[in-house]
Amino acid sequence: MVNYEEKYRNEALNLTIVEPFNGSLTVKKRSPSNIALVKYWGKRHFQIPQNPSLSFTLNKSFTDTEIEYQYKKEKGLSFDFYFEGEKNTNFEERIGKHLSVLKPFFPFIENLHLKITSSNSFPHSSGIASSASAMSAFALCICSIEKKIFDTLQKKKEYFQKASFMARLGSGSAARSVWPGFVLWGETDFVEGASDELAIPLPGKSDKIFSGIRDAILITSPEKKKISSSAGHGLMKDHPFAEARYKQANENIELLIDALKTGNQNEFIRIVENEALTLHSLMMSSNPGFTLMNEKTWKIINEIRYYREKTGRLVAFTLDAGPNVHLLYLETDKDEILKFIEQKLVVFCDNSRWIDDGIAAP
Ligand code: DP6
Repeated sequence: MVNYEEKYRNEALNLTIVEPFNGSLTVKKRSPSNIALVKYWGKRHFQIPQNPSLSFTLNKSFTDTEIEYQYKKEKGLSFDFYFEGEKNTNFEERIGKHLSVLKPFFPFIENLHLKITSSNSFPHSSGIASSASAMSAFALCICSIEKKIFDTLQKKKEYFQKASFMARLGSGSAARSVWPGFVLWGETDFVEGASDELAIPLPGKSDKIFSGIRDAILITSPEKKKISSSAGHGLMKDHPFAEARYKQANENIELLIDALKTGNQNEFIRIVENEALTLHSLMMSSNPGFTLMNEKTWKIINEIRYYREKTGRLVAFTLDAGPNVHLLYLETDKDEILKFIEQKLVVFCDNSRWIDDGIAAP
């Protein structure tokens, strides 16, 4: 198995000397968020997941990041960060820490001043986790700078793998956002090439029924998360159910991959909803316990269950680390589902807000 950390540390030896250049150059990247079907919850060491996770990358919920870089002679990290046009000190602190983590892999950043500008397609108050799209877009930008200065990462696969590795160091779920389609992050015996250090596109063909899968993101609260994902992951350390959870996630990965390949809709629904509820029960049974769902989350879940019973359509819910509900459905049912959302679900959305998203085709 490849040890990517060692590989990228070795490559870094050739990425130290920047030839001086005048003026500034710019790279620009867009990266979407993703929704996990099998969840990453719990880490060991630094940004290494306790279990494999599987997601699909979205289309409309993305971050745009631009980095303007200038040569500077004296070595040392130097950057400015602007979020949606304004200097943002909170994010700046996070990016500062992240750049220090990246330094051993991209030593050339010490000879550059970076002006980082970032914006999201989704409103900040929507509770959509922006760290996945933001860290992924940022990673793609840094890899593009490496590519431009050193003529490296010419092969697409190499470029995206390194970006995924690097995005992971900023936020675990970001590792999955660099690839479109269904994406796997974390070692598993069932997939060759799967790695804890970076995500890979799910190999092989998924059944065509899932190829245009859609995600209606139903926003139930504008509030910021009460507990950060990092704190939540931390609480898995002494969690009494941790071992059982990691075993379950490994089993669910195998079953879900099989369901995706064979087009088994009932298994898909069962696993996806089991994962969502498990995630939130792990939060509730942490010490201290916490809940991120609200009463609207439950109302929507019940409506989805009832609609499925009544119509037999593939509708499934999943949840992120927050109270929003992701309603998954098939592209072929789009017209009917839009009616269902308008008639039954919009009433539970904050200011009637929901995002009509879907899988980014590979
Ligand atoms: C519930 O990737 O946000 O969304 O690595 O600490 O940044 P950090 O955590 P993060 O955790 C995401 C957790 C999740 C499930 C998932 O996306 O797999």
